[in-house]
Amino acid sequence: MPELREALDALLADVPPARLTDSVRRLIEVYRSGLPAGEPLIRNMVDATAYAAYRMPATHAAVVAALATLPAIAPRSHVDLGGGTGAAAWAVQERYGTLQHTVLDQVPEALKLGERIAKQYTWQPWQLGEPVPAADLVTASYVLTELDEEQQHTLVEQAAAAAGTAVVLIEPGTPPGYRRILAARDQLMRRGWHIAAPCPHELACGLQGRDWCHFAARVNRSSLHRRLKEASLGYEDEKFSFVAAVPGPAGTRGRVVRHPAFRKGLVTLQVCQPDTTVGPVLVSKREGQVYKAARDAEWGDTWPPPS
Ligand SMILES: C[S@@+](CC[C@H](N)C(=O)[O-])C[C@H]1O[C@@H](n2cnc3c(N)ncnc32)[C@H](O)[C@@H]1O
Repeated sequence: MPELREALDALLADVPPARLTDSVRRLIEVYRSGLPAGEPLIRNMVDATAYAAYRMPATHAAVVAALATLPAIAPRSHVDLGGGTGAAAWAVQERYGTLQHTVLDQVPEALKLGERIAKQYTWQPWQLGEPVPAADLVTASYVLTELDEEQQHTLVEQAAAAAGTAVVLIEPGTPPGYRRILAARDQLMRRGWHIAAPCPHELACGLQGRDWCHFAARVNRSSLHRRLKEASLGYEDEKFSFVAAVPGPAGTRGRVVRHPAFRKGLVTLQVCQPDTTVGPVLVSKREGQVYKAARDAEWGDTWPPPS
């Protein structure tokens, strides 16, 4: 991550700060609206730089966190659909080392910007529906959110068809983001994929109708990042929803779906269980090793932890 941060900060030197700030403001506004984009939101090199500087650290952190939930796999190739400036490729490289990474996107400026800081990847202009090269691992982060329902269906079909080892889809951790992930999860299962994470089962989500499944990734903000977002805190928590699918049946361990609550001698974990129930698991100090594990448990971890 420091490497990505340094690369991003260096990029900013080329663009007048006022133009960047204007572009960040516009992008924040359109992303907050949550509507399908209709037309590309990144319109020029300034937008691409602004996107990379203010959003990429967070989307990168979310992808890193989602990949960490996958069972042991050893992909040799990776395709990122709607990869923009390459956040997911950086994340995949961090987890699995340098693979053959291909970033596909409709916006040439985003690809160009991404290539400036990661020349080792293949950057390829691509419109949804155009052929996708086969790869072991296929990702799409924060893309479904820009698509209408039919396009979302197309993207998931393309990901499911192109991937050999894993498909990982990541969306904003909002109720609509969660609903898009649920639809994608169903679609992946219909295509014969199995759910590796976050769910410990392949039945209907136990949170549906009362809550939404999402997670958080901590992102430290550089001073430039803070300035661009006109923010004062030195960090932000990126909320995301995701689904990770693999070809064969996968883990059935529960998952912690909220920040654990700590009281003296007692940890309360909200756990999504293999039987689809979601509720509190209380672990008291009397439970020794299990208590120690519960104290270390974080939102997004499996529970019980691997022995
Ligand atoms: C919010 S950005 C996410 C970029 C990157 N995946 C990330 O996580 O930082 C959404 C990306 O999807 C791309 N995209 C949206 N609709 C597309 C389409 N119909 N065909 C190809 N790319 C598309 C956009 O150009 C943009 O780069």
